[in-house]
Amino acid sequence: MSAIFPTHRLFNKNVLITGASGGIGAATAILFAKAGANIIISARRPEKLSEVRQAAQQAHKEGGTGQGGKVFEWVQDVQDRRGVDKLFDLLPQDFKKIDVLVNNAGLVYGRDQVGEVNEQEMDIMFQTNVLGMIHLTQMLVKHFKQNNAGHIIQLGSIAGREGYSGGSIYCATKHALRGFTVAMMKELYDTPIRVTEIQPGMVETSFSITRFRGDEQAAKKVYEGFQPLTAEDVAEDIVWAASRKDHINVAETFVLPVNQASPTIVHKA
Ligand SMILES: NC(=O)c1ccc[n+]([C@@H]2O[C@H](COP(=O)([O-])OP(=O)(O)OC[C@H]3O[C@@H](n4cnc5c(N)ncnc54)[C@H](OP(=O)(O)O)[C@@H]3O)[C@@H](O)[C@H]2O)c1
Repeated sequence: MSAIFPTHRLFNKNVLITGASGGIGAATAILFAKAGANIIISARRPEKLSEVRQAAQQAHKEGGTGQGGKVFEWVQDVQDRRGVDKLFDLLPQDFKKIDVLVNNAGLVYGRDQVGEVNEQEMDIMFQTNVLGMIHLTQMLVKHFKQNNAGHIIQLGSIAGREGYSGGSIYCATKHALRGFTVAMMKELYDTPIRVTEIQPGMVETSFSITRFRGDEQAAKKVYEGFQPLTAEDVAEDIVWAASRKDHINVAETFVLPVNQASPTIVHKA
């Protein structure tokens, strides 16, 4: 791997990635495996996690580090807090010490204006993007404090910096994540535990398909005439942040496609 990924710093580290069954989470898991880390991949769809396991094992071979490369699949809905509580009981011995948590599971539904928002979808967005994320983070912060080491990497968004019309609930969840993350960093400043927030602009994944409730054509239109980020672009950011020297904390990264300047200012050919 290139010099921007001094992979020896990731060798045999155990990295837990939520939302690892597709998109940014899957690309991140695969890149960590390639760099010589072990990965705990989590999401709700077991069949997708198995595909990611295979891709990660292949990438690990190609990476040629000869380090790490172990994979544990954790099928879990982050909204189910009692299920999340069982994590350390389920982990095999090799994985009982976690070094990095990537809080990536997240989703958006709809472009509905305030007044028209579906309450059930609103609950799912908050339960997943905010409350589930906070519950898992609380568990891992305790674990990291016991180990006197750890790194929490949060998937924020441009939507956590600036609201946009038709995104009220999603923007509120990502603003909540941002507030939580900044406060947590201020609580952990006297420990070796690192806190990073990754804030991408538009990334072409299944994100928009979920937003448009399965309408693939509507999702495709979002990216037409324009080059969005890829899941792999964001994965590079995440793995880069995790592979800095121990005394460096990348507090945040805000990375946009070159033709995007805000949630709504996007140049299309
Ligand atoms: N795409 C973008 O433009 C963009 C921009 C900025 C930030 N982000 C953020 O990046 C993160 C990843 O999004 P993505 O673009 O990669 O979208 P994606 O391709 O739709 O992936 C979302 C992932 O989250 C998982 N997930 C959703 N609900 C879950 C739940 N309740 N419990 C456990 N896992 C759950 C999904 O897996 P299962 O369905 O198998 O559970 C999937 O693996 C999200 O936090 C998103 O807000 C995305």
